[in-house]
Amino acid sequence: MIVTRTVAEFRAARDELLAGGQTAREGLGLVPTMGYLHEGHRSLMRRARAECSAVAVTIFVNPTQFGPNDDFTRYPRDEARDLEACAAEGVDLVLAPSIEEIYPEGACTTVSVGPLSRVLEGAARPGHFDGVATVVTKLFAIAGPCRGYFGQKDAQQLMVIRRLARDLVLPVDVVGCPIIREPDGLAMSSRNVYLSPEERSQALGISRGLRQAEAAWVDGVRDADSLRALVRSEIEAQPLARPEYVSLADTETLEELAGLAGPGALLSVAVRFAGTRLIDNVVLGG
Ligand code: PAJ
Repeated sequence: MIVTRTVAEFRAARDELLAGGQTAREGLGLVPTMGYLHEGHRSLMRRARAECSAVAVTIFVNPTQFGPNDDFTRYPRDEARDLEACAAEGVDLVLAPSIEEIYPEGACTTVSVGPLSRVLEGAARPGHFDGVATVVTKLFAIAGPCRGYFGQKDAQQLMVIRRLARDLVLPVDVVGCPIIREPDGLAMSSRNVYLSPEERSQALGISRGLRQAEAAWVDGVRDADSLRALVRSEIEAQPLARPEYVSLADTETLEELAGLAGPGALLSVAVRFAGTRLIDNVVLGG
């Protein structure tokens, strides 16, 4: 496994890896991450490993997607452990750049993805998706033609990135991958380490609420308000939980559904436990 720190080093290593004859588009799988890698990240690496002839992981805690009150400085980091995880998954190439390498002095171009990025997470975290779209565009530009692997855990982010790739005609196939959960249902997240034992156990109300609403939908409950209320009541039953939003939205536009929820509707939540903000979601009907 080759660990690179600069764009030039990464590109040289990529060219060498792909020199086998196949086109880069078939060849390279790219897994962008902010590190502190867990099974969710590793599932993306494994999928890329199964589908691509070379796998690259980026590890970069991107400052521009954090707001002034977000957790940028305390975001968990453990590069040595991350590199071990990448090596264990058969990753060929890692890019772990400095902030200056990605945002050199004077950099002032940003990418903004329109209405999709202003609701839900975008409304709660103004500017967040501009930061995500900008860094992901740069990572795609650095990687060149590739398949980019992203998790459904961040459902809105996945939609924003799909739209970005389509609108800017980027030579990237965006691949969405299922949410990986702890055995008790909590969606894996680098931020779970912030939770106290008590918060950790109350956080199970999130996945439980989503599961109950999903089961109700399967049983024929279609009314959007009733489904949202089911999730909200399960979360609000946890004394330490502060729901920021409980959304049931159209999967294409992310507009809130007013009447009935058909298959494919996205049920998503953001919940605060003191300083920790967790998100989770389920797509109704799988
Ligand atoms: P990060 O939170 O590190 O997540 C990296 C990738 O792992 C994302 O595509 C995310 O959806 C996926 N992921 C995280 N937890 C997962 C889980 N439990 N199951 C499946 N996939 C999971 O998302 C980011 O970093 C950043 O915004 C990034 C795209 C790297 C841009 O900075």
